[in-house]
Amino acid sequence: MDQNRLHKSLADFHLGGIRYFDSLDSTNDEAMRWVEEGAPELGLVIAAEQTAGRGRQGRSWYTIPGASLAFSLVLYPKERGTFILPRLTALGALAVREALQTYYGIPAQIKWPNDVLLDRRKVAGVLAEAHWSGETLKALVLGIGINVSSASIRTVSSQGALLPFPSTYVEAILDRPVDPLELLHEILVELIRLRSRVGLPEFMQAWERSLAFRGEWVRIFQADGSFQEDLPSSIEEGMIVGLAPDGSLKLRDHAGEVVAIRFGEVRLRPVPVSSQA
Ligand code: BTN
Repeated sequence: MDQNRLHKSLADFHLGGIRYFDSLDSTNDEAMRWVEEGAPELGLVIAAEQTAGRGRQGRSWYTIPGASLAFSLVLYPKERGTFILPRLTALGALAVREALQTYYGIPAQIKWPNDVLLDRRKVAGVLAEAHWSGETLKALVLGIGINVSSASIRTVSSQGALLPFPSTYVEAILDRPVDPLELLHEILVELIRLRSRVGLPEFMQAWERSLAFRGEWVRIFQADGSFQEDLPSSIEEGMIVGLAPDGSLKLRDHAGEVVAIRFGEVRLRPVPVSSQA
């Protein structure tokens, strides 16, 4: 990645600082190290390649130079209360969704809690990690990984990784080359715009409107690190009806009751039509 272009294209943002690496273990790990040293608000860590990129639930995340976008942003939330953490996590997914929709005309959706889907396939993932001081949330590292061109997902399969969900990449839908720097710019525009709105009802409405599989039956699994769909570990099944203010997913179950699935380490899968009750 051309560092001059990177700095020029992000000059309008007043970011706290930019740390760029050709190759790095993980931008989230680097951002956490930076937090320990006193990183500024909106400190950005970006890497062309990650050698130990991490996904949710202990999974690996591959970042291929030129084909993927991987960055982490340091936030110091001023808001207090348990409601803020799910919302700040959703902020990453919503910013990617809004950027794809507004600047590229691609109708992306959010697979609760925080995967971004195109055509029901995963195009981006978010790993939000909190830095606590006792009970107080001191900082949040918001790590975002996006598959931009085909090499980003071909490599995942060729490394024999078990894909937890079908994947895609931005260029597959757009059918033209996408400049990762331009995409980063548009995501940051949206992220900074939405950051000031996370406490407002309109933020929840935007998140709810973006939900994938709304009105469809889904299964929720306890995150046990396994991706074998035949494991009988589903904890809930129901039709997605929306979101609660704390970011919980509301499902209508077989008895017609609305149940809330708490935001956390769970996985969601659509129920194949053939096995719906
Ligand atoms: C997931 O879908 O499981 C979340 C993937 C998050 C990947 C990003 S890439 C930038 C940042 N650094 C990491 O090590 N992980 C996140």
